[in-house]
Amino acid sequence: MERIKQAIEKVKNQTSGGTGPLAQSHPDNHATMTTPRSSQTHNELEDVSYTQTRVIKLRAEHLEKNRIVAFNKSDPKSMIFDLLRTHILQKMEENGWRTLAITSPTPEAGKTVIAINLAMSIAQQTNKTAMLVDFDLRRPKIGAYLGIPMEKSLNDLLAGTAELADVLVNPDMPRLVLLPTRSPVKNSSEMLSSKKIADLIKDLRERYESRIIIFDLPPLLVTDDAIALLPQIDCVLMVVANGMSTKREIEDSLRLLPAENLIGTVLNKAEIEPRAYYY
Ligand SMILES: Nc1ncnc2c1ncn2[C@@H]1O[C@H](COP(=O)(O)OP(=O)(O)O)[C@@H](O)[C@H]1O
Ligand SMILES: [Mg+2]
Repeated sequence: MERIKQAIEKVKNQTSGGTGPLAQSHPDNHATMTTPRSSQTHNELEDVSYTQTRVIKLRAEHLEKNRIVAFNKSDPKSMIFDLLRTHILQKMEENGWRTLAITSPTPEAGKTVIAINLAMSIAQQTNKTAMLVDFDLRRPKIGAYLGIPMEKSLNDLLAGTAELADVLVNPDMPRLVLLPTRSPVKNSSEMLSSKKIADLIKDLRERYESRIIIFDLPPLLVTDDAIALLPQIDCVLMVVANGMSTKREIEDSLRLLPAENLIGTVLNKAEIEPRAYYY
């Protein structure tokens, strides 16, 4: 824990312009919030017509094998994600938040599965576009779970060998855009607190006002990665897998996040499926 506390202090000092949870302690922080730009709303939904973005067809069978269900309205499990979406969008709207991080105390909680389903569910609301970014730079899984080819990915963008437009993918669903990561990135926590990432988040965030951006992060207690990134994200959803984290781990994780930016906690992998998600 001491190591993580030190990392928080380091990040707080580095990211004085951040607007995310860990940046709240900066008194002049709100000055950096962007103001609505009404001139931009006009055409933005049409803009997401992916003139440049690669369109990739997803296979239902592959998705279902990986517990991705929100694309299929006739799957009763998709309702759980619609409910979660409604709660999350309500809170985000109330607070003027547009970026959401998904993390957990320890690995394998189901963050990536929830992140993908939630992004799909948001995209199905016709007034929102959703972007899903794979910022678990140690164990990136979004591309594999969705079964999308990744000749170009965030890895190439960070290496400077591709432009943003080359790495975005539209998974053949309206209003959903993905930024996948093909392979683990070395020095991921340094990368996540770098100017390159800060500029990327700013760019993604400012491009479309009605876009919700979901960042799939690594767990909080294993590395400094999530802590390095959180100051730049508006709010956090915590995923706790039933029986997979101790009470102490959950408490330690919650202590790392200011309560006002914790949008909710999801209990995942509960035994009885319909009660699998508490919000
Ligand atoms: N509600 C659930 N019930 C059972 N298994 C689940 C559930 N959600 C996710 N999983 C499985 O748990 C594993 C880890 O999920 P993943 O989303 O990759 O976790 P994380 O991103 O938190 O490491 C995957 O095999 C996934 O299919
Ligand atoms: Mg994951």
